Amino acid sequence: MPRKIIIDTDPGQDDAVAILLALASPAELEVLGIVAVAGNVGLHHNASNARKIVELAGRPDIPVYAGCARPMRRHLVTAEHVHGETGLNGPDLPEPTIPLQPQHGVDYIIDTLMAAEPGTITLCTLGPLTNIGMALVKQPAIADRIAEIVMMGGAYFEVGNITPAAEFNIYVDPEAADVVLRCGAPITMLPLDVTHQIQSTPERLEAIRNLGNRTGEAVHAMLTFSETFDLLKYGWAGAPLHDPTVIAWLLQPDLFEGRHCNVSIETASELTVGMTVADYWHVTGKVRNVTYLRNGNADGFFRLLTERLALLP
Ligand code: RIB
Ligand code: CA
Repeated sequence: MPRKIIIDTDPGQDDAVAILLALASPAELEVLGIVAVAGNVGLHHNASNARKIVELAGRPDIPVYAGCARPMRRHLVTAEHVHGETGLNGPDLPEPTIPLQPQHGVDYIIDTLMAAEPGTITLCTLGPLTNIGMALVKQPAIADRIAEIVMMGGAYFEVGNITPAAEFNIYVDPEAADVVLRCGAPITMLPLDVTHQIQSTPERLEAIRNLGNRTGEAVHAMLTFSETFDLLKYGWAGAPLHDPTVIAWLLQPDLFEGRHCNVSIETASELTVGMTVADYWHVTGKVRNVTYLRNGNADGFFRLLTERLALLP
């Protein structure tokens, strides 16, 4: 029986690869819907990009919703410097033909969780946590109904990427992240500690392009665009590939290693706002609210990603 998931996302080239990986795995995952959130770029582009991606995958049946256009309290911070003006620069994808769903994405999340058997739906978050935070504020009862929240976000041993202390998804909406991490639902975090080990080297990108399908072409064009900023910044053999690790966790959890511990969000200090403070050695005695993953098997990840992308058009 495939696992039912809702993907909350700010596509973003790496978000796109995560969505494609999920859609390439129908035996394990049933994508109920995709909700766009403001993050990498503005909501309008993210909602359009999400529709372009499901159509690229040959899945125009997947409903796409628009969620929140800005963080709960702070001004929106975006990342066009990484993802380009449209958020999905690189491939030349056609304008989407499927419409955006009329319902607000936050209400879709609430209604879907409240209508389903408790513990049967997993939330996969690939961007700022604004939609999930707002859903928890509007309908707190969803917290007990969520099977698991698997999020790309945070950093501790690897420090931040948008500031010295904070990872982008948490930094954009730290108040929403705080609400989510306190909600009591099972949470698994794929932080920069893991994603910085998952590097898209030229060989790995070439293997994807050599798949010979339109998906391989598009993913190669996406990642060879979005890698530019990180290759200059870090000087590594390949740029880190963040969001698809969320889906890989669901498909092959033994690719990752970490532990259950307390993770809390800094929301007060302007110097470290958005920092995910992981009590990895349990010195505080605070509730162990997160499965905090610290290591990932890059070869195994790219083997999984490449073989699944081959299954798409
Ligand atoms: O810090 C990496 C995260 O920020 C990824 O989700 C990327 O898509 C951006 O949203
Ligand atoms: Ca993202």
